Amino acid sequence: MTGQQGRHQHKVIVITGASSGIGKQVAIDFAKEGVKGVAIVARNRDRLNELAMEIQDTCECLVCPCDVSDKSAVISMARNVLDKFGNVDVLVNNAGYGILGKVQVQSIEEIESITATNYLGMIYCTKAFLSSMLIRKNGHIVNVASLAASFGIPGLAAYCGSKFAVLGFSESLSHELRGTGVGITVVSPIGVRTNFLNHPSFKKKNKSWNMRYSLDATTVSKSVLKASTSHRFEIVVPFFMRGAIWLKHTIPYITNPVIGKSFRRMMDLDNDTNHEN
Ligand SMILES: NC(=O)c1ccc[n+]([C@@H]2O[C@H](COP(=O)([O-])OP(=O)(O)OC[C@H]3O[C@@H](n4cnc5c(N)ncnc54)[C@H](OP(=O)(O)O)[C@@H]3O)[C@@H](O)[C@H]2O)c1
Repeated sequence: MTGQQGRHQHKVIVITGASSGIGKQVAIDFAKEGVKGVAIVARNRDRLNELAMEIQDTCECLVCPCDVSDKSAVISMARNVLDKFGNVDVLVNNAGYGILGKVQVQSIEEIESITATNYLGMIYCTKAFLSSMLIRKNGHIVNVASLAASFGIPGLAAYCGSKFAVLGFSESLSHELRGTGVGITVVSPIGVRTNFLNHPSFKKKNKSWNMRYSLDATTVSKSVLKASTSHRFEIVVPFFMRGAIWLKHTIPYITNPVIGKSFRRMMDLDNDTNHEN
């Protein structure tokens, strides 16, 4: 157990996208902190059950198979969580994914699915737990966005759009929540070594992605735990990438062409066959 244990003891945590990567690590780390209960949310029931086996000796664990892009599924998941634990102290909206491909190559359905999972899924979960947090004047929402919430990367338009939207929605909500006892913090990591790049659209490029500057899930998880008690609006991981965001906003006419050129090359988009959908 770590020094933060006192800060998280007896809390009830909900984590979406907990079957893999960052979300799974966040569940493990909160469990180590002596929390009362963790509700783990994702679509893959088997992987959630495996995680539950791993953490249920340290805290109560509720397995919640749920597609966050399905509004009614989220409502019934939230009802189960509140029935079981009575309240929620921390909601980590982490479920998300990306598909690599130019806009004219991606189907409308793919773009809708990314938006529905990464952006609307976060809203459904936030709406499902916010009222109970406001009534108790206590709670914290942590939204896992990305550095892609600040940079439009070629080949990831739908993904970047969904993450920009997460950041914008969260910023508005943070102003509304002032003085309510409920907080919201966005965690924006650079690349993380998880299953994220296992989507067939990345794999079909048949190249090993340069993950030299990427993080492991434990580093991001630490930031999520820190975010859950933070007054800050956005935590960028690693922190020095905030400098890159500042440069992008300050001298976009220099930074944007550099970003566009380097990512177009890295994503190998120029050879994609274009077709109308
Ligand atoms: N890896 C990176 O480079 C990186 C960088 C910045 C930000 N992020 C963000 O970090 C978050 C976690 O990603 P990760 O890197 O940990 O990837 P990951 O290992 O692929 O995990 C993604 C998680 O999201 C869940 N998920 C996907 N669609 C879902 C849906 N419709 N309903 C419920 N759960 C769903 C997946 O579970 P099921 O398949 O079981 O549903 C899985 O647990 C995402 O929001 C991602 O955008 C990732």
